[in-house]
Amino acid sequence: MPSNTAAWLTAAKAHPLEVKSAPYTFPHENEIVIKNGAVAINPVDWMKQDDGGLLFSWIKFPFVLGTDCAGEVVDVGRAVTRFKAGDRVVGHANGIEQKFNNSAYSAFQNYTVLLDHMVSPIPSTMSYESAAVLPLGLSTAACGLFQEDQLALQYPSVPPPKPTGKTLLVWGGATSVGSNAIQLAGAAGYEVITTASPMNFDYVKRLGACEVFDYNSKTVVEDLIRAFKNKTIAGAMSIGPGAADACHDILNKCKGDKFLAMATYPLPSPPPQTFVLPRTAFHFVSWNIINWFKSKARGIRTKFIFGSTLIDNGVGKVVYVDFLPTALAEGAYIAAPDPHVVGKGLEYIQAGFDLQKKGMSAKKVVVSL
Ligand SMILES: NC(=O)c1ccc[n+]([C@@H]2O[C@H](COP(=O)([O-])OP(=O)(O)OC[C@H]3O[C@@H](n4cnc5c(N)ncnc54)[C@H](OP(=O)(O)O)[C@@H]3O)[C@@H](O)[C@H]2O)c1
Repeated sequence: MPSNTAAWLTAAKAHPLEVKSAPYTFPHENEIVIKNGAVAINPVDWMKQDDGGLLFSWIKFPFVLGTDCAGEVVDVGRAVTRFKAGDRVVGHANGIEQKFNNSAYSAFQNYTVLLDHMVSPIPSTMSYESAAVLPLGLSTAACGLFQEDQLALQYPSVPPPKPTGKTLLVWGGATSVGSNAIQLAGAAGYEVITTASPMNFDYVKRLGACEVFDYNSKTVVEDLIRAFKNKTIAGAMSIGPGAADACHDILNKCKGDKFLAMATYPLPSPPPQTFVLPRTAFHFVSWNIINWFKSKARGIRTKFIFGSTLIDNGVGKVVYVDFLPTALAEGAYIAAPDPHVVGKGLEYIQAGFDLQKKGMSAKKVVVSL
């Protein structure tokens, strides 16, 4: 049995993560184990380290975090036919989800157990560092776009289906979630209008956005309302602080599907770097009350996205089994944003958290293993 090592969060708010041995876990029948070649950091990782218990409250310490990993298959469960030892893959790790609540299924260690249908093979030319940027951004975008209880867009395919004639608003196109939302929506036959800082205009256009607006401009909401004037909106996905209220105002003036899928919960701006429970709870309750009345009056439906709900509802298979392998193999999907590698070894994961927390522009913080 291989010996495993993990970057452990040993207690609430413990800093730094502690690198020490971890059990090696064998896969159940629909699972595989991979030896990680690279892992990526998401805001939820440092938020969980900082918050002390509000997020994923079922987690007991010590615990291993991490959702994004890429590496080589070392073991497969009895029912797995898609993979064999030696295959190069990328996968969404689910250890923090309540249903799993198990460090063996998390990314920040040498060996991770993954669900067969939440894993895709990657081309031989793609590095693990490039592939590791995908999982949570891709999954969150897919939950918001394709789930029946969210925007319920038609599924992506390679080549894309006939254009639907509808246009999606993605607020925050240079985020990891936004980079994937733009590409997935394009692959599903939707035109995309997005927002980003001017330095990322070319970046989001390369991903497939047809128009892009600076979210820091004072006139951005009016500019977007004008851009949608002769279009049928397919709904909106709000990503980033302030995005939900702006998208609400835009949807109010558009014709089409008035649905807002929210990746970022509308917290006070500037966003708190740590969760301050009374302030966050007060904002949560008051925003919901105001939003309920505003949405009723405007005929807009809103829903928060949980980037892991696709595991159980069929969208996970659509993305990781049916779409991504072909899209990557044919060069029809870009693993974006580009990785920013902070170092090699589990010891660098804490440095990755600290860097991600300071904020990155169109880059994903990655650690090589
Ligand atoms: N609900 C879920 O399950 C879920 C899952 C993953 C992430 N999220 C949330 O989604 C958000 C993005 O996460 P991520 O990992 O994709 O982030 P990320 O890749 O770290 O995002 C960095 C980008 O954010 C953009 N940005 C910053 N402030 C913005 C604003 N006010 N409006 C639009 N864009 C803004 C910047 O764009 P420019 O450089 O162009 O300025 C920057 O490039 C976070 O709030 C995160 O907590 C939610």
